[in-house]
Amino acid sequence: MNSTLAPQTFRNRDRDATPVSSFTRAEDVLEAMLRSIEGGELHLRPTLDAGEGDPFLNYIEIGFALRQCLEDKNQREYLIQRLKPHVGVIIGTLPAGIQSHGLLPRTLKESPQETKFRRLENISDEEVRQWLIVDGGLIYGELKRYELENYFDVIGPLVHPGGIMYDLGSGLGKAVMSAAITLPFARCIGVELLEYRHRMAVDRLQVMLATGDRGLESLPVRLQPDDPLELPGGSLTKAMHLLDIRSRIEFIEKDMFEVDVSDASLVFMNSTCFGSFMHLIADKLARELREKTLVSTTTYSINHPAFKLIGHFPAATLAWTDLFLYERVHCTETQALPKVAALFEPGDQEWEDRVREEFLAIDARMNL
Ligand SMILES: C[S@@+](CC[C@H](N)C(=O)[O-])C[C@H]1O[C@@H](n2cnc3c(N)ncnc32)[C@H](O)[C@@H]1O
Repeated sequence: MNSTLAPQTFRNRDRDATPVSSFTRAEDVLEAMLRSIEGGELHLRPTLDAGEGDPFLNYIEIGFALRQCLEDKNQREYLIQRLKPHVGVIIGTLPAGIQSHGLLPRTLKESPQETKFRRLENISDEEVRQWLIVDGGLIYGELKRYELENYFDVIGPLVHPGGIMYDLGSGLGKAVMSAAITLPFARCIGVELLEYRHRMAVDRLQVMLATGDRGLESLPVRLQPDDPLELPGGSLTKAMHLLDIRSRIEFIEKDMFEVDVSDASLVFMNSTCFGSFMHLIADKLARELREKTLVSTTTYSINHPAFKLIGHFPAATLAWTDLFLYERVHCTETQALPKVAALFEPGDQEWEDRVREEFLAIDARMNL
């Protein structure tokens, strides 16, 4: 850990979550807003739907082919054979997407398309590998509130007022909204690939803003833009920070690789499931970011000469997993370096043994 960045102690649990019952100070309003964005991790994952031209049609086609092999006992040896070369990009044992909690629908609404779907025998190894990479990246998780608080404590002293924060893979928007409340960013922007997660982030933003409006109306004295305001991390600012929060948060539904982030001052990524494309992210950020821009990742480090590590917070300190903090430095090399190691790459036999155990567990659940 870099001692110049680390606070003395990190929190290791969330505070009491009882709702804010009275609004006597503007700080109570901020607290109520923060509490309103908790709980997203537990959301029910709807399945994807795919009409003509849908960007996920290919994901669904290959997912259907893999799932068909999982569900047909006679095809399971073939499934093992097809997955085995890609164990390093599978998160867990069997890919999340083809299991009952995955994002694949049972059938398509526009069923004629389904009849054109290929079987696994007609899908190439490279397509399977790309599918597994996308599938891993779609797994959902959020940092807990205390982990975000630890993070904001660390980066707060490095953030100059007026900068722009991006969360690449912003999910339901908790990190974006928490950053806008806690730190003096001019804008906090979340970029999310899945339409339903983007929509939920937008809805949750409306709930958070309505909570803020109700809190402001309940204050005994109307808040003025120049009134002093203590931010959740303890630093002092003006009440304008709260009054104009609406204009400082934005959610974009897009693939992170299609969004230009060159105006960022901080790029945050909860990247625990991005291991197999971390080198592509590093390459993108090296091409786009200005010197001194901060970048943070979870679980996976960035292996690129354009990024200097300025803080490493091992698992179970700042958060449950490792957190790496980088600064974009001057560098003329632009090529991506070799991929970072997989989080967990079991030997082939170990993986196969675990897959067979999962087959038994699946059969027991389905009474097969
Ligand atoms: C682990 S979640 C993190 C959510 C949020 N950042 C947080 O920490 O609360 C990662 C998110 O990245 C999204 N994602 C995966 N690949 C993406 C891509 N290429 N572009 C944008 N978002 C992506 C996933 O759909 C998922 O919602």
